[in-house]
Amino acid sequence: MKNSQRVTLEPVAMPERFRFDETFVSKAVKNATDIILANLSEYVHMYPTAASEKLQYGKQKNGEDWVEGFWTGMLWLSYELTGNELFRAVAEAQFDDFQERLNRFGGLSHHDIGFLYVPSAVAQYKITGAHKARELGLRAAEQLAKRFSETAGIIQVRDTDRQGVFIVDCSMNLPLLFWAAQTTGDHSYYSKALRHITQVCNYIIRDDASTFQRFQIDEVTGQPGKGEQGQGYDDKSCWARGQSWVIYGLALAYRYTREPEFLEMGKRVANYCLNRLPSDHVCCWDLIFTGDGDARDSSAAPIIACGLLELAEHLPEEDMHKQLYDTAAGDILMHLAQEYHTLQGESNGLLKHGVYVKKTRPGKEGIGCGDDECCIWGDYFYLEGLVRLSKKWNPYW
Ligand code: GLY
Repeated sequence: MKNSQRVTLEPVAMPERFRFDETFVSKAVKNATDIILANLSEYVHMYPTAASEKLQYGKQKNGEDWVEGFWTGMLWLSYELTGNELFRAVAEAQFDDFQERLNRFGGLSHHDIGFLYVPSAVAQYKITGAHKARELGLRAAEQLAKRFSETAGIIQVRDTDRQGVFIVDCSMNLPLLFWAAQTTGDHSYYSKALRHITQVCNYIIRDDASTFQRFQIDEVTGQPGKGEQGQGYDDKSCWARGQSWVIYGLALAYRYTREPEFLEMGKRVANYCLNRLPSDHVCCWDLIFTGDGDARDSSAAPIIACGLLELAEHLPEEDMHKQLYDTAAGDILMHLAQEYHTLQGESNGLLKHGVYVKKTRPGKEGIGCGDDECCIWGDYFYLEGLVRLSKKWNPYW
């Protein structure tokens, strides 16, 4: 049985609640790129920390974290939006940091190699055609591919984790493999990415179209184990950012494979999410929370918007979701711009009310970080969403 037969496609309730006025975009672009420009000299060979503290990002070397690629990606997006050569010059200068990191294999024993090298090396190659950026992106893909387990059919999350564990977040690392296959003609990258996203559909997406964050498959027998929530509220809930990673990941898997099942599954996870948004359409940090007074995760919301725009691009005109997803994405980005954007001088980040790891998970009270702060991936995907609304754009992913 196909997963799309197993998993519910909820109709989107009250689709007319989504609307936006695209005149917000130019002001939003200016507000965002002004802040990025103001921070440029501070973050040339130092990178923003994953989350801010009291709305100020710290500084870190391009060393151990999984997030450094987002800042470089924001510089490329800013360059594409404004044509300002300063953004390009700093993004190009950061190439050496990513190369040096891959050479020493620093902080790369995990699946987030895609988050690091797609918005940096691959973006640089797509924008400038630089051969060295292509080579670096391909070397990164080679390392990601080495994490693939033939028996489990997945990219292992971290070396330190139990064998056979994969997480929903990795859906967004797969474009590095799909791109490598397309660029080199080496089909092994394609089949690894395809098998991984298929296992996501098989085991991470539940029957009601919500998701686990983590799942384990027995490395010896290939038999499925059980799902867990990880960064979400509990094992039965649905972590909003996990859902956002898979909405966008499935849309991109369709872009590369043209496999209709990924569009079908993309619609299911998207509709589940759209039906659980509070009235400003910026998701709460876990989708079990839907009230206007519940804590949001503004860093998941723009990922949802970018995923909806990517899904809409591939849907046929006669599918009513096409227009709906375009409108819902614009609506989410408009609310972020108007109600979640930092005020002038308040922060060196873009979006307030993001959550890295929530501090109020049952049994894990107080264990968390970046709770109600700016998150650098949220800022990246917000800017990407604005680019997508501004022009026809060749995705870095
Ligand atoms: N990939 C980790 C996160 O989304 O927090």
